[in-house]
Amino acid sequence: MGARLLPLFGLLLLSPRCWSHRPHHLSEEEEYLLQAAKEESPYGSLWPLPQTVQQSNDVYYIPPAEFSIVHGAGSTGSPLCMVLQDAFRRYYEYIFGYSPFKYSAVNTNGPSSGRLLQLQVILTSDQNECFLYPHVKSDESYKLIIDDDGAVLQASQVWGALRGLETFSQLVYEDSTGAFLVNKTRIADAPRFAHRGVLLDTSRHYLPLKSILLNLDAMAFNKMNVFHWHIVDDQSFPYQSVLFPELSNKGAYHPSTHIYSVTDVRLVIEFARLRGIRVIPEFDTPGHTSSWGKGQKDLLTPCYQDGQPSGSFGPINPIVNETYNFIQSFFKELSYVFPDAYIHLGGDEVDFSCWKSNPDIAKFMDEQGFGTDYRKLESYYIQKILEIVAEYHKGYMVWQEVFDNHDKLKPDTVVEVWKEKDYQQEMAAVTAARFQVLLTAPWYLNRISYGQDWIKAYGVEPTNFNGTTQQKQLVIGGEACLWGEFVDASNLTPRLWPRASAVAERLWSSKDVTSVGDAYTRLIKHRCRMVRRGIAAEPLYVGFCDHEINA
Ligand SMILES: *[C@@H]1O[C@H](CO)[C@@H](O)[C@H](O)[C@H]1NC(C)=O
Repeated sequence: MGARLLPLFGLLLLSPRCWSHRPHHLSEEEEYLLQAAKEESPYGSLWPLPQTVQQSNDVYYIPPAEFSIVHGAGSTGSPLCMVLQDAFRRYYEYIFGYSPFKYSAVNTNGPSSGRLLQLQVILTSDQNECFLYPHVKSDESYKLIIDDDGAVLQASQVWGALRGLETFSQLVYEDSTGAFLVNKTRIADAPRFAHRGVLLDTSRHYLPLKSILLNLDAMAFNKMNVFHWHIVDDQSFPYQSVLFPELSNKGAYHPSTHIYSVTDVRLVIEFARLRGIRVIPEFDTPGHTSSWGKGQKDLLTPCYQDGQPSGSFGPINPIVNETYNFIQSFFKELSYVFPDAYIHLGGDEVDFSCWKSNPDIAKFMDEQGFGTDYRKLESYYIQKILEIVAEYHKGYMVWQEVFDNHDKLKPDTVVEVWKEKDYQQEMAAVTAARFQVLLTAPWYLNRISYGQDWIKAYGVEPTNFNGTTQQKQLVIGGEACLWGEFVDASNLTPRLWPRASAVAERLWSSKDVTSVGDAYTRLIKHRCRMVRRGIAAEPLYVGFCDHEINA
């Protein structure tokens, strides 16, 4: 009896707030933001903030039933361009489709003059881009002009047109009668960084396709352009390989319901392409591979205890030829399934204890003259896989350990910095060695804390490290990471959004866009807009949306 009561008693002692109902006092920061929110941002609800914005008080009424988004005259884009066709339909729906007034009765009654009936989208070059995949050098710049002559969105490539459509949709607002309005506006815009990613982890928990697609939508609303798909890991192997079906038969949480077939993967890639988003899969080796071992016999290193195999397994076995035959065939398959020029090879957190226990590995180390330096064995493996992947003309991305181990990397390698400790020194070291770098260390959004933790993510400056201008130019962007230990489809979206929006603005907007107060007033509106478009983004703080989540 006593033993049963004790834990409860201890809990009460440790957490007096639970029973004293002490009211929550606002921190200075929260007071400040609430104050700031009472004032409108001069930039309305734009997110991320474009590079240059000029707006005036002249307004145009947009009668939804008469309004259309069209492929402008003089455009070189093909009328068959799916990316544009699909985007025109989506953005028409985003702008008008979710109004509680609907768009029939009330709001067609705007004044007969001062109306805007068309948005013309003009592509000035590269119509072929429409049929290709976005890539790191895609041109996402655009110009948007709304004035007495109408509304014109001009971009060199479809990818810029997509970003401009998002901006146009953010400029349209409703008055109290439900009429749609847009102010006279002039915007010239382009991203500050080329790689603006979100990492989702489908191994710790399986994510249904629907929630992956929904998050691609949310990424597009935030002008993010890379889906880093951490598709497999120790816990499960949901990728259904054509050549090695046993990998998911044995390694997935369920062989037919918790998998991604090649058809599923293609669907994700096309859905992403239509939103100007690249899909970069990560197949992390030689560590983080427990699930691989279930369906691929003898791939992993057998661990030993007291001179006997213990029955447990460690990282991929780097000393046998079969390993490299498998890697060769498997990565060749991946190069067909995933069209992006880059693939992520992982290479992080390799645990040496199993390798250390295995006598065959010890013998191999001896023969190779590695001594007892297991990092050399890791490098041996990594070097071989880098050569294999390079055969398929793929660029690769790797976690920072691969760089730290002095492995020989192709000059176009992208190194991803994830360790929070001393990350600025790491950014400096990677760029000093002339590699392109991505920052994720301060943006592990799976870590949550009470209060407005988006502010911390927002305050990060990726080029803030000791280095030359040349070095800073090697920072190609960053990624918001949502590791899946405590995340599945039930909480993914509210945990990621709008916190990842802070990262999105940091990576898109000008370096001097740093006002937290102004960001807050825009972000609460942007968050409400995401909610209205079906994204269950969590609230930043107290307040309300005109269109609430279940309304
Ligand atoms: C748009 O015009 C209205 C009405 O003239 C004005 O009150 C508002 O501040 C303008 N908005 C922006 C963002 O310039």
